[in-house]
Amino acid sequence: MKSRNTYLNLLMALALFVGCQPKEKQAESAEVEQPETVAEEKFQEEHRPQYHFSPPAHWMNDPNGMVYYDGEYHLFYQHYPDSTVWGPMHWGHAVSPDMVHWEHLPIALYPDSLGYIFSGSAVVDWKNTTGFGSDDNPPLVAMFTYHNMDGERSGKIKYQTQGIAYSTDKGRSWTKYKGNPVLENPGIKDFRDPKVRWQEDLNAWILTLAVKDHIAFYSSPDLKEWTHLSDFGIDKGGHGGVWECPDLFPLPTPDGKGDKWVLFVSINPGAPQGGSGTQYFIGEWDGKTFTEDKGSYGWLDYGPDNYAGVTWADVPQEDGRTLFLGWMSNWLYAQIVPTENWRSAMTVPRKMELFKNGNDYLLAFKPVKELDELRNDCITEATMMVDTSAVLDDQVKGSTTFEAKLTLSEIPEEGFELILYNDVDQHVTFGYDAAKDEYYLDRSESGKNDFYDEFSRKYTTKRIVDTESIDLHIYVDVASIEIFADEGKTVMTAIFFPDKPMDHMKVEANGQMKVSELEVCSLKSIWK
Ligand code: FRU
Repeated sequence: MKSRNTYLNLLMALALFVGCQPKEKQAESAEVEQPETVAEEKFQEEHRPQYHFSPPAHWMNDPNGMVYYDGEYHLFYQHYPDSTVWGPMHWGHAVSPDMVHWEHLPIALYPDSLGYIFSGSAVVDWKNTTGFGSDDNPPLVAMFTYHNMDGERSGKIKYQTQGIAYSTDKGRSWTKYKGNPVLENPGIKDFRDPKVRWQEDLNAWILTLAVKDHIAFYSSPDLKEWTHLSDFGIDKGGHGGVWECPDLFPLPTPDGKGDKWVLFVSINPGAPQGGSGTQYFIGEWDGKTFTEDKGSYGWLDYGPDNYAGVTWADVPQEDGRTLFLGWMSNWLYAQIVPTENWRSAMTVPRKMELFKNGNDYLLAFKPVKELDELRNDCITEATMMVDTSAVLDDQVKGSTTFEAKLTLSEIPEEGFELILYNDVDQHVTFGYDAAKDEYYLDRSESGKNDFYDEFSRKYTTKRIVDTESIDLHIYVDVASIEIFADEGKTVMTAIFFPDKPMDHMKVEANGQMKVSELEVCSLKSIWK
């Protein structure tokens, strides 16, 4: 199998003739695929998730421009509206009142003569520092990477630059800034994925940018003029691939010692689970430089399918949460997974918190409470004894879209397994190996897997805490599973493609085990 970069190069070459077409032609062909023309029954295709965000049709990768404004969560995304594989990048767009129910909107940003529209972020320019709006109507400003295919093809180095665009009508229409690019390329091929945030005490915008093998920080008074502040990471963290899609943000410490700063860096390839994954550093940000605390380092997800995720900007202070969403796929096989009409979905939205692990801080993720609105029918059991095996058919009730919570105690020496399965013996197994003190997620016999050899794998990770009981919170949605163990201190996310509905679950242990606080809720579709 080709590495994603080789694969991308091939696809980029294929995409060239589309890229070479005049801009009008591209827009015209893209219009054919506008969301309005997509029938609702499209969301009934085999493997289509029912409550995770997915595009109306065709290709999607990274979440982009996540910003909250005036009662709406905006989600933009890397989108190629003409095909189910990667190609000339646009920003697809959707809005939601709650991060769970989505309304698809027309494409927000089209490629232009400066290039494809790669990943980036969006903010509310509350003080109208750009002058694009007014004090009464602050503009939404998006900052993204221009990827110039002609430049790349002709062997130039400086083909990635940063541009901005704005909207004064709640994101419904976008105008690209005439002075683009606002940040020229200093002579490094990989120079992309701008994430901006307003830092009130500095009265400035701070930009976090991925530059090949490190992160560069910049500041600006108006999102147009940028000054380089510092670099981080050339000798830190994972370096098995290119650094992408960073984010820098504060989080309160659980012990009331003020804020710590978190730096996300996605990397492709080189993740411990294979292919693409997102690592984080926790440390100090003094307004100019980031310094990591030794030991306060980890990965957002210990499953294979959570990439390029970042935080939502401008979540109201009274809400106070730091909210996350990732792309639920992996560049190893994202473009060849067996789905028709569309490719890929996002993770469920997650709330982030710091927790103390010895002297270090680490990140925990919890599904957002808004997901509770999806609950249809819940079955709860106070306590249940498992004697070797307990089938949960009475609880799951034949659903393929459900949520389960359970606490396991008196765990036998070998550990336990929680198995999601179907009528043709395909299964996804989450387990705890007590001897190794490891969690694992095994999708090697989960259904279609011949599209990529290493899709059939078992993923393992050390358990972080050592409490005697283990609590699990699980989301299953037709073709994906997300497991939040130990109150989100370990998260494992994986996609799979079964031949028959995965509508059974059982718990197995080599002996007697106690299951308490069991709750299983079937979840409603957001597309019906
Ligand atoms: C991450 C990424 C970004 C880039 C985008 C292109 O998945 O490679 O670095 O901006 O995808 O679609």
